[in-house]
Amino acid sequence: MNQFINQLPKAELHLHIEGTLEPDFLLEKAKKHLITLPFHSINEIQQAYNFSNLQSFLDIYYQGMAVLRDETDFHDLAWRYFQKAHAQGVLHADIFFDPQAHIERGLTLDTVSDGLCNAVEKAKKEMRLSVFLIPCFLRHLSEDSALDTFAMCLKFKKVITGFGLDSSEVGNPPSKFQKVFSQARQEGFRITAHAGEEGPPSFIEQSLDLLHAERIDHGVRCLEDEKLTNRLVREKIPLTVCPLSNLKLKVVNNLQEHPFKKMLACGIMASINSDDPAYFGGYIADNFEACGTALSLTKAETILAARNSFMGSFLDANTKAAYLQKLESYCDEHLN
Ligand code: HPA
Ligand code: ZN
Repeated sequence: MNQFINQLPKAELHLHIEGTLEPDFLLEKAKKHLITLPFHSINEIQQAYNFSNLQSFLDIYYQGMAVLRDETDFHDLAWRYFQKAHAQGVLHADIFFDPQAHIERGLTLDTVSDGLCNAVEKAKKEMRLSVFLIPCFLRHLSEDSALDTFAMCLKFKKVITGFGLDSSEVGNPPSKFQKVFSQARQEGFRITAHAGEEGPPSFIEQSLDLLHAERIDHGVRCLEDEKLTNRLVREKIPLTVCPLSNLKLKVVNNLQEHPFKKMLACGIMASINSDDPAYFGGYIADNFEACGTALSLTKAETILAARNSFMGSFLDANTKAAYLQKLESYCDEHLN
Protein backbone atom coordinates (compact mmCIF):
# COMPACT_ATOMS: atom_id res chain seq x y z
CA MET A 1 0.00 0.00 0.00
CA ASN A 2 1.25 3.45 -0.95
CA GLN A 3 2.00 5.22 2.34
CA PHE A 4 1.01 8.67 1.05
CA ILE A 5 -2.45 7.41 -0.05
CA ASN A 6 -2.97 5.31 3.06
CA GLN A 7 -2.37 8.14 5.50
CA LEU A 8 -3.92 10.88 3.34
CA PRO A 9 -6.63 12.47 5.55
CA LYS A 10 -10.02 11.59 4.06
CA ALA A 11 -13.73 11.13 4.77
CA GLU A 12 -15.74 8.07 3.81
CA LEU A 13 -19.20 9.03 2.53
CA HIS A 14 -20.45 5.82 0.95
CA LEU A 15 -20.18 2.79 3.20
CA HIS A 16 -22.88 0.27 4.11
CA ILE A 17 -21.94 -1.13 7.51
CA GLU A 18 -23.56 -4.47 6.57
CA GLY A 19 -21.19 -4.51 3.60
CA THR A 20 -18.20 -4.74 5.95
CA LEU A 21 -19.14 -8.28 7.02
CA GLU A 22 -15.90 -10.14 6.30
CA PRO A 23 -15.94 -13.94 5.69
CA ASP A 24 -14.20 -14.76 9.03
CA PHE A 25 -16.72 -12.60 10.91
CA LEU A 26 -19.60 -14.29 9.06
CA LEU A 27 -18.34 -17.74 10.13
CA GLU A 28 -17.70 -16.59 13.71
CA LYS A 29 -21.19 -15.12 14.16
CA ALA A 30 -22.92 -18.06 12.43
CA LYS A 31 -21.20 -20.39 14.90
CA LYS A 32 -22.21 -18.20 17.85
CA HIS A 33 -25.90 -18.21 16.83
CA LEU A 34 -25.96 -21.83 15.54
CA ILE A 35 -26.89 -20.65 12.04
CA THR A 36 -26.22 -23.08 9.19
CA LEU A 37 -24.60 -21.36 6.23
CA PRO A 38 -24.32 -22.69 2.67
CA PHE A 39 -20.53 -22.13 3.07
CA HIS A 40 -17.99 -23.95 5.22
CA SER A 41 -14.78 -22.02 4.74
CA ILE A 42 -13.44 -18.56 3.99
CA ASN A 43 -12.37 -19.86 0.60
CA GLU A 44 -15.89 -21.04 -0.29
CA ILE A 45 -17.32 -17.69 0.78
CA GLN A 46 -14.81 -15.76 -1.30
CA GLN A 47 -15.69 -17.89 -4.32
CA ALA A 48 -19.38 -17.02 -3.88
CA TYR A 49 -18.49 -13.31 -4.09
CA ASN A 50 -18.52 -13.35 -7.85
CA PHE A 51 -21.23 -11.02 -9.05
CA SER A 52 -22.82 -10.35 -12.42
CA ASN A 53 -24.74 -7.21 -11.46
CA LEU A 54 -26.15 -5.30 -8.47
CA GLN A 55 -28.99 -7.78 -7.80
CA SER A 56 -26.69 -10.81 -7.70
CA PHE A 57 -24.69 -9.00 -5.01
CA LEU A 58 -27.74 -7.85 -3.04
CA ASP A 59 -29.04 -11.45 -2.79
CA ILE A 60 -25.81 -12.52 -1.02
CA TYR A 61 -25.59 -9.29 1.00
CA TYR A 62 -29.09 -9.73 2.53
CA GLN A 63 -28.37 -13.41 3.18
CA GLY A 64 -25.07 -12.62 4.94
CA MET A 65 -26.53 -10.15 7.40
CA ALA A 66 -28.72 -12.89 8.92
CA VAL A 67 -25.81 -13.63 11.29
CA LEU A 68 -26.26 -10.20 12.93
CA ARG A 69 -28.66 -10.99 15.76
CA ASP A 70 -27.84 -8.96 18.86
CA GLU A 71 -26.41 -5.64 19.99
CA THR A 72 -22.90 -7.08 20.38
CA ASP A 73 -22.91 -8.27 16.75
CA PHE A 74 -23.66 -4.75 15.47
CA HIS A 75 -21.10 -3.27 17.83
CA ASP A 76 -18.40 -5.74 16.74
CA LEU A 77 -19.14 -5.23 13.05
CA ALA A 78 -18.93 -1.44 13.30
CA TRP A 79 -15.88 -1.50 15.59
CA ARG A 80 -13.97 -3.69 13.12
CA TYR A 81 -14.81 -1.25 10.33
CA PHE A 82 -13.82 1.81 12.38
CA GLN A 83 -10.41 0.28 13.12
CA LYS A 84 -9.83 -0.42 9.40
CA ALA A 85 -11.04 3.04 8.37
CA HIS A 86 -8.81 4.72 10.98
CA ALA A 87 -5.82 2.71 9.73
CA GLN A 88 -6.54 3.97 6.19
CA GLY A 89 -6.59 7.68 7.04
CA VAL A 90 -10.34 8.17 7.56
CA LEU A 91 -11.03 11.08 9.95
CA HIS A 92 -14.80 11.15 9.44
CA ALA A 93 -17.36 8.67 8.09
CA ASP A 94 -21.02 9.13 7.13
CA ILE A 95 -22.14 5.49 7.23
CA PHE A 96 -25.28 3.75 5.97
CA PHE A 97 -27.29 0.96 7.51
CA ASP A 98 -30.47 -0.80 6.32
CA PRO A 99 -33.11 -0.82 9.14
CA GLN A 100 -35.75 -2.65 7.07
CA ALA A 101 -33.42 -5.57 6.39
CA HIS A 102 -33.11 -6.12 10.16
CA ILE A 103 -36.70 -5.36 11.20
CA GLU A 104 -37.94 -7.86 8.57
CA ARG A 105 -35.89 -10.54 10.39
CA GLY A 106 -37.56 -9.79 13.72
CA LEU A 107 -34.87 -7.55 15.23
CA THR A 108 -35.74 -4.27 16.93
CA LEU A 109 -34.26 -0.94 15.91
CA ASP A 110 -32.97 -0.61 19.50
CA THR A 111 -30.72 -3.64 18.99
CA VAL A 112 -29.24 -2.19 15.80
CA SER A 113 -28.98 1.38 17.01
CA ASP A 114 -27.54 0.58 20.47
CA GLY A 115 -24.87 -1.68 18.99
CA LEU A 116 -23.84 0.85 16.35
CA CYS A 117 -23.94 3.82 18.75
CA ASN A 118 -21.73 2.07 21.32
CA ALA A 119 -19.10 1.49 18.62
CA VAL A 120 -19.44 5.10 17.38
CA GLU A 121 -18.84 6.44 20.91
CA LYS A 122 -15.80 4.19 21.36
CA ALA A 123 -14.37 5.30 17.98
CA LYS A 124 -14.78 8.94 18.95
CA LYS A 125 -13.06 8.40 22.30
CA GLU A 126 -10.28 6.02 21.32
CA MET A 127 -9.46 7.09 17.74
CA ARG A 128 -10.95 10.59 17.43
CA LEU A 129 -12.90 9.22 14.46
CA SER A 130 -16.21 11.02 13.94
CA VAL A 131 -19.13 9.02 12.54
CA PHE A 132 -22.61 10.03 11.39
CA LEU A 133 -25.35 7.40 10.95
CA ILE A 134 -27.61 7.38 7.88
CA PRO A 135 -30.42 4.80 7.66
CA CYS A 136 -31.37 3.95 4.07
CA PHE A 137 -34.79 2.99 2.76
CA LEU A 138 -34.81 -0.16 0.64
CA ARG A 139 -36.19 0.91 -2.72
CA HIS A 140 -37.38 -2.59 -3.72
CA LEU A 141 -39.93 -2.31 -0.86
CA SER A 142 -43.01 -0.07 -0.87
CA GLU A 143 -43.14 3.58 0.17
CA ASP A 144 -45.54 2.56 2.96
CA SER A 145 -42.82 0.34 4.39
CA ALA A 146 -40.38 3.27 4.16
CA LEU A 147 -42.91 5.54 5.92
CA ASP A 148 -43.35 3.00 8.77
CA THR A 149 -39.57 2.72 9.09
CA PHE A 150 -39.17 6.48 9.12
CA ALA A 151 -41.72 6.76 11.95
CA MET A 152 -39.78 4.13 13.95
CA CYS A 153 -36.49 5.97 13.34
CA LEU A 154 -37.83 9.19 14.88
CA LYS A 155 -37.20 7.71 18.34
CA PHE A 156 -33.49 7.74 17.43
CA LYS A 157 -33.52 11.25 15.97
CA LYS A 158 -30.59 12.41 18.12
CA VAL A 159 -28.21 9.84 16.64
CA ILE A 160 -29.35 10.01 13.01
CA THR A 161 -27.92 12.64 10.63
CA GLY A 162 -29.87 11.91 7.47
CA PHE A 163 -31.62 9.35 5.29
CA GLY A 164 -30.56 7.55 2.14
CA LEU A 165 -32.08 5.33 -0.55
CA ASP A 166 -30.45 2.06 -1.63
CA SER A 167 -31.02 -1.50 -2.96
CA SER A 168 -32.30 -2.51 -6.44
CA GLU A 169 -32.28 0.63 -8.59
CA VAL A 170 -33.73 -0.49 -11.92
CA GLY A 171 -37.54 -0.42 -11.77
CA ASN A 172 -37.54 1.54 -8.50
CA PRO A 173 -37.25 5.25 -9.37
CA PRO A 174 -36.73 7.97 -6.74
CA SER A 175 -40.24 9.28 -7.57
CA LYS A 176 -41.63 6.28 -5.62
CA PHE A 177 -40.31 7.82 -2.36
CA GLN A 178 -41.27 11.50 -2.55
CA LYS A 179 -43.54 11.44 0.48
CA VAL A 180 -41.10 9.83 2.89
CA PHE A 181 -38.19 12.09 1.88
CA SER A 182 -40.45 15.13 2.20
CA GLN A 183 -41.21 14.07 5.81
CA ALA A 184 -37.52 13.49 6.48
CA ARG A 185 -36.67 16.99 5.24
CA GLN A 186 -39.42 18.53 7.35
CA GLU A 187 -37.81 16.91 10.39
CA GLY A 188 -34.49 18.52 9.47
CA PHE A 189 -32.62 15.43 8.24
CA ARG A 190 -29.93 15.56 5.52
CA ILE A 191 -30.81 13.67 2.31
CA THR A 192 -28.74 11.47 0.01
CA ALA A 193 -29.76 8.84 -2.56
CA HIS A 194 -28.17 6.10 -4.64
CA ALA A 195 -28.77 7.02 -8.28
CA GLY A 196 -27.13 6.48 -11.65
CA GLU A 197 -25.35 3.27 -10.60
CA GLU A 198 -27.34 0.92 -12.87
CA GLY A 199 -30.26 3.32 -13.32
CA PRO A 200 -30.39 6.08 -15.95
CA PRO A 201 -29.19 9.69 -15.50
CA SER A 202 -32.86 10.73 -15.12
CA PHE A 203 -32.83 8.97 -11.71
CA ILE A 204 -30.09 11.41 -10.62
CA GLU A 205 -32.31 14.30 -11.75
CA GLN A 206 -35.30 12.85 -9.92
CA SER A 207 -33.24 12.47 -6.74
CA LEU A 208 -32.33 16.16 -6.91
CA ASP A 209 -35.73 17.52 -7.98
CA LEU A 210 -38.18 15.21 -6.22
CA LEU A 211 -36.28 14.02 -3.14
CA HIS A 212 -34.13 17.17 -2.78
CA ALA A 213 -31.04 15.02 -2.29
CA GLU A 214 -27.99 17.10 -1.36
CA ARG A 215 -25.63 14.39 -2.49
CA ILE A 216 -25.75 11.48 -4.96
CA ASP A 217 -24.35 8.02 -4.20
CA HIS A 218 -22.53 6.53 -7.21
CA GLY A 219 -23.91 8.79 -9.97
CA VAL A 220 -21.37 7.31 -12.38
CA ARG A 221 -23.79 7.37 -15.32
CA CYS A 222 -24.16 11.17 -15.13
CA LEU A 223 -21.68 11.78 -17.96
CA GLU A 224 -24.20 10.26 -20.41
CA ASP A 225 -26.17 13.51 -20.05
CA GLU A 226 -24.26 16.72 -20.72
CA LYS A 227 -26.94 19.00 -19.33
CA LEU A 228 -27.04 17.02 -16.10
CA THR A 229 -23.24 17.01 -15.88
CA ASN A 230 -23.21 20.81 -16.18
CA ARG A 231 -25.87 21.07 -13.50
CA LEU A 232 -23.92 18.85 -11.07
CA VAL A 233 -20.88 21.09 -11.57
CA ARG A 234 -22.85 24.34 -11.29
CA GLU A 235 -24.75 23.26 -8.16
CA LYS A 236 -21.64 21.61 -6.62
CA ILE A 237 -23.49 18.34 -5.97
CA PRO A 238 -21.15 15.80 -4.33
CA LEU A 239 -20.99 12.35 -5.95
CA THR A 240 -19.79 9.46 -3.77
CA VAL A 241 -18.05 7.20 -6.28
CA CYS A 242 -17.03 3.59 -5.45
CA PRO A 243 -14.57 2.28 -8.10
CA LEU A 244 -14.06 -1.31 -6.84
CA SER A 245 -17.83 -1.70 -6.36
CA ASN A 246 -18.42 -0.56 -9.95
CA LEU A 247 -15.84 -3.09 -11.15
CA LYS A 248 -17.22 -6.02 -9.10
CA LEU A 249 -20.86 -5.30 -10.09
CA LYS A 250 -19.88 -4.83 -13.73
CA VAL A 251 -21.01 -1.21 -13.94
CA VAL A 252 -17.66 -0.81 -15.73
CA ASN A 253 -15.81 -3.54 -17.66
CA ASN A 254 -12.46 -2.59 -16.18
CA LEU A 255 -11.06 0.20 -14.01
CA GLN A 256 -9.25 1.79 -16.96
CA GLU A 257 -12.72 2.60 -18.34
CA HIS A 258 -13.96 4.09 -15.07
CA PRO A 259 -15.29 7.66 -15.50
CA PHE A 260 -13.78 8.99 -12.23
CA LYS A 261 -10.93 10.96 -13.85
CA LYS A 262 -13.33 12.46 -16.40
CA MET A 263 -15.71 13.44 -13.59
CA LEU A 264 -12.93 15.37 -11.85
CA ALA A 265 -11.86 16.96 -15.16
CA CYS A 266 -15.44 18.18 -15.71
CA GLY A 267 -15.40 19.81 -12.28
CA ILE A 268 -17.75 17.37 -10.53
CA MET A 269 -17.24 17.13 -6.76
CA ALA A 270 -16.50 13.39 -6.85
CA SER A 271 -15.00 11.46 -3.94
CA ILE A 272 -13.66 7.88 -3.66
CA ASN A 273 -15.40 5.43 -1.31
CA SER A 274 -15.67 1.72 -0.59
CA ASP A 275 -19.44 0.89 -0.60
CA ASP A 276 -19.35 -2.76 0.60
CA PRO A 277 -15.63 -3.42 1.11
CA ALA A 278 -15.92 -7.00 2.43
CA TYR A 279 -17.61 -8.00 -0.82
CA PHE A 280 -15.78 -5.82 -3.34
CA GLY A 281 -12.17 -6.48 -2.42
CA GLY A 282 -10.99 -3.39 -0.62
CA TYR A 283 -11.44 -0.54 1.84
CA ILE A 284 -11.17 3.16 1.05
CA ALA A 285 -7.40 3.45 0.56
CA ASP A 286 -7.50 0.29 -1.62
CA ASN A 287 -10.07 2.10 -3.77
CA PHE A 288 -7.84 5.19 -3.98
CA GLU A 289 -4.90 3.03 -4.95
CA ALA A 290 -6.68 0.81 -7.52
CA CYS A 291 -8.40 3.77 -9.15
CA GLY A 292 -5.22 5.86 -9.03
CA THR A 293 -3.17 3.15 -10.73
CA ALA A 294 -5.76 2.29 -13.40
CA LEU A 295 -6.46 5.92 -14.32
CA SER A 296 -2.95 7.31 -13.66
CA LEU A 297 -4.40 9.84 -11.24
CA THR A 298 -1.92 12.61 -10.47
CA LYS A 299 -1.08 13.60 -6.87
CA ALA A 300 -3.23 16.70 -7.42
CA GLU A 301 -6.22 14.56 -8.51
CA THR A 302 -5.77 12.22 -5.54
CA ILE A 303 -5.69 15.18 -3.16
CA LEU A 304 -8.76 16.68 -4.87
CA ALA A 305 -10.64 13.41 -4.27
CA ALA A 306 -9.76 13.65 -0.55
CA ARG A 307 -10.72 17.33 -0.49
CA ASN A 308 -14.08 16.52 -2.14
CA SER A 309 -14.73 13.88 0.52
CA PHE A 310 -14.63 16.50 3.30
CA MET A 311 -16.51 19.06 1.18
CA GLY A 312 -19.28 16.55 0.43
CA SER A 313 -19.66 15.28 4.00
CA PHE A 314 -22.56 16.19 6.29
CA LEU A 315 -20.15 17.84 8.75
CA ASP A 316 -20.77 21.47 9.75
CA ALA A 317 -18.77 24.22 8.04
CA ASN A 318 -16.28 24.78 10.90
CA THR A 319 -15.44 21.10 11.27
CA LYS A 320 -15.08 20.76 7.49
CA ALA A 321 -12.63 23.69 7.49
CA ALA A 322 -10.61 22.08 10.31
CA TYR A 323 -10.35 18.77 8.42
CA LEU A 324 -9.41 20.56 5.18
CA GLN A 325 -6.65 22.31 7.11
CA LYS A 326 -5.36 18.91 8.29
CA LEU A 327 -5.37 17.70 4.70
CA GLU A 328 -3.42 20.75 3.58
CA SER A 329 -0.82 20.37 6.36
CA TYR A 330 -0.40 16.68 5.51
CA CYS A 331 0.21 17.50 1.84
CA ASP A 332 2.65 20.33 2.68
CA GLU A 333 4.58 17.98 4.93
CA HIS A 334 4.69 15.05 2.52
CA LEU A 335 5.11 16.73 -0.85
CA ASN A 336 7.63 19.46 -0.12
N1 HPA B 1 -26.24 -0.09 -4.42
C1 HPA B 1 -27.48 -0.22 -3.99
N2 HPA B 1 -27.77 -0.76 -2.82
C2 HPA B 1 -26.80 -1.19 -2.03
C3 HPA B 1 -25.49 -1.07 -2.42
C4 HPA B 1 -25.19 -0.47 -3.68
O1 HPA B 1 -24.05 -0.32 -4.12
N3 HPA B 1 -24.75 -1.60 -1.42
C5 HPA B 1 -25.59 -1.99 -0.44
N4 HPA B 1 -26.85 -1.74 -0.82
ZN1 ZN C 1 -24.01 1.83 -1.88
